[in-house]
Order: sequence, then C-alpha cells, then structure tokens
Amino acid sequence: MQKFLIEGGVALEGEVEISGAKNAVLPLLAATLLASTPMTIRNVPRLKDVSTLAAVIAGMGVTLSTDEHNNIHTDTSTIHTFKAPYELVRTMRASILVLGPMVARFGEAEVSLPGGCAIGDRPVNLHLMGLEAMGAEIVVEEGYIRAKAKRLKGAHIVMDIVSVTGTENLLMAAVLAEGTTVLENAAREPEVVDLANCLVKMGAKIDGIGTSKITVEGVDSLSGCDYTVLPDRIETGTYLAAAAITGGHIKVLNAAPDTLDAVLQKFREAGAVVNTGADWIELDMRGRTLKAVDIRTDPYPAFPTDMQAQFMAMNAFSQGIGVIVETIFENRMMHVAELKRLGANIRLEGNTAIVAGMPNLKGAPVMATDLRASACLILAGLAAQGKTLVDRIYHTDRGYERIEEKLSRIGAKISRVNEA
Ligand code: UD1
Repeated sequence: MQKFLIEGGVALEGEVEISGAKNAVLPLLAATLLASTPMTIRNVPRLKDVSTLAAVIAGMGVTLSTDEHNNIHTDTSTIHTFKAPYELVRTMRASILVLGPMVARFGEAEVSLPGGCAIGDRPVNLHLMGLEAMGAEIVVEEGYIRAKAKRLKGAHIVMDIVSVTGTENLLMAAVLAEGTTVLENAAREPEVVDLANCLVKMGAKIDGIGTSKITVEGVDSLSGCDYTVLPDRIETGTYLAAAAITGGHIKVLNAAPDTLDAVLQKFREAGAVVNTGADWIELDMRGRTLKAVDIRTDPYPAFPTDMQAQFMAMNAFSQGIGVIVETIFENRMMHVAELKRLGANIRLEGNTAIVAGMPNLKGAPVMATDLRASACLILAGLAAQGKTLVDRIYHTDRGYERIEEKLSRIGAKISRVNEA
C-alpha cells in the first residue's frame, strides 16, 4: 500500500502550476457524448477520476485518445452500448454524469446506481426527478437506473437542493430536449459555468449561465469543439493552505483567482497577505501569526465544502478558536479524529467542529478517509514537528495531480513510500 511520508516543519517557498479542474473535466467528458463530430478537451489533469470517466465512455464505444500533452480527443460515432457498469460507477459517483447526455442523445441509458460514499449518503433523486420532468421513463432495478425517452421535452424544473452534478446532468439533457427548459435553484459553481460555456461552443442555446436560473432552448444536434478546462480552484486553495500552514510564501500560476473569492477572504482573515493577478495568486505568511477562522460551507459563491478539511488543518495549527460548520455533506468530518492523532484540540458536535489552535502539534501515522481529508492530513503533516505517515493516499490520487512532486518543488519533505 502506498503512503506519503512527510517530515514537517519546512516553510514552503516558490511557484506551483495549477492543473485543470477535476470537477470541470468530468462533466466535460460526459458532454462529449452529446457531440456528433469529434471533440478535443485540453488542460486535462492526470487523475484517477478522469481515467475512470474516460473508461466509462470508452466502454460505451467512444473512440478516445490522449496525446502527449494529455489532451483528450473523442469521437462518438462508434458508440455501441448505453451502459455504465457497476464496476466503474462504484469507484466514482460522478459517473452518473453520463445519464443525462445519453438519454438526451440516444433516448436510452443504463447507469449503475451509485452507492453511498464515505462523506455521506449522496442521493441522486434530483437527477432522476429532473429527467422524469423532461419525459424520461425511469426505473431503478437490479442496482441500475434504466432511463428511456423518445425525445426529451423541455420542462420547468425547480430543484429543492442546490446540486452541482444534478444541475450539470439536467443541463446536458436539456440542450438536446425539444423546447425550453428552465432550471431553477441551479448550482452556480464555476465548473457548471465551464460546462455551460463548452455546450454553447458546441451549439447549445443557454441563457443565465452562472446564475441560479438557467434557461435552455433545445437544439436538434450539437457538434464537437475544442475546449480548455478551467483551473482547479480546490487544488489552488490547497497549495495556498500549504504555504499558510507552514508560514511560507507561494505563487500559484495558471489559476483562476475570481473563482476563489470566499476562500481568499478567509486566508486574509487567517493573517495571510494575498495578492492576485489575472491568472496568479501570491500568498505570504512569512513572519506572520496564523489565526483561527470561522467557516461555514455553502454552495458557490460561499465557502466550498471541498476546502473545509484544509481549513480544519490550518485552524488546528493556528492561534485562537475557530468554528467550522459543514452544511453540504452529513459525514464530512472524518479527518477530525485523524488530526487528533497529532494532538489537535477539536470538539465535534454533529456537523460543527470547534477547533482550538495549537501551533506545536507532532507528526503521527494517520489514515485518509476521502479525497479532501487526505489533503487535510498532508497539510497537517507539513506543519507538524517530526514525521507523519499518511495512509490510503489513493484518495489523493483521485483529485491531485502529482501532489508530492509539486510540493517537493517548493521545499516540502514528502515522498511516496511503499509500506505494508
Ligand atoms: C459536487 C462535487 C464535489 C463537491 C460537491 C459540493 C463533482 C464531481 N463533485 O458533488 O466535489 O463537494 O459538488 O460542492 O463536481 N443531493 C440530494 N439529491 C441529489 C443530489 C444531491 O439530496 O439528487 C444533496 C447531496 O446529498 C448534498 C447536496 O445535495 O447534501 C449537494 O450535493 P451535490 O452538489 O449534488 O454534490 P455532487 O454534485 O455529488
């Protein structure tokens, strides 16, 4: 089993290149299913989740190739099955993203029902409710969602919870539906915007992009296009947190600062000096005191749940008391018990964590339970005195491209080791 061995206590210093956004490339790959001509996606990060979704669409018959720059080229003329099997979907819930495009274009889809996951139950009822409103007949049997429709019809859909992949699935269905679809209470995450922009480039008619009311005028067909994925805001925030927690200085390049307003505000509140340009962010924590901050996760543009664990680590090493409230997922505090193994002073009450900062925590063996929990533990290891061994780093590889290389380049003592 691979683990990260981290020797903490080094203030990180230097520049880091940010990769394309995991949560943008996944819906974009699903959107290629809608294109009747070949398509190219650029700035694709090398991640396990990306290869999983690539395997899902390749399994349906899409001809898919990756060039030397890791750009992905797709051709859907070879699709021969509409099924996304359990073996792949169970490893990544976002595989559900193929459901909308397949029903919309081929009138049929069979996608394994994603199970629960470490951070909560995560149902897909909104995805199904929206497709049914557009006229799809849906049955769930033998662990599969089976959806059929001659041609989807435009509908007025009000989602009672803001769902990122739910909005994306219904958006991809609506672009080929007959007539007008209105999606209310839609997610406004930058990754939803990236998908919508790509669909427009493919010939879709979409109004209200980036707002909570998206209006789609269905078209008969979409063509492929050449699209570059937006930078990963969560990877960006994680590297900024690495500099902040170690009292270092970092400049992240190829970033999208305008997608991180709520997060940058919290870094400033935590005592960092933060400067931004068009595509870079510089964070300086040298000689400054890290202060605990209060966080409440909420849908974009509020503070993202995917940065909650990283700020938990920062608070654990800070001065003062910070209260972190997780409102999106019911079970996303599993890193708390692991941080305590380093000596962190955190009291958990339901989905609220009260963190009393302690600047001198010591390294320990810890175990990652999910992707962002793994980032939290790596950050803690970088700041702790002595050695930290992070287990189950396959979670990290799902969403961070070559994290140990990028961190080493800015001075971190981190290596991937094989240990039983
Ligand atoms: C996406 C992101 C994930 C991020 C999350 C919240 C991707 C691939 N993943 O996940 O990194 O943490 O947004 O920003 O983009 N819900 C329902 N019914 C549904 C769908 C969702 O009740 O049909 C609930 C969920 O249980 C959760 C909330 O809605 O409590 C938000 O989840 P959602 O936005 O759907 O998360 P994902 O799209 O799965």
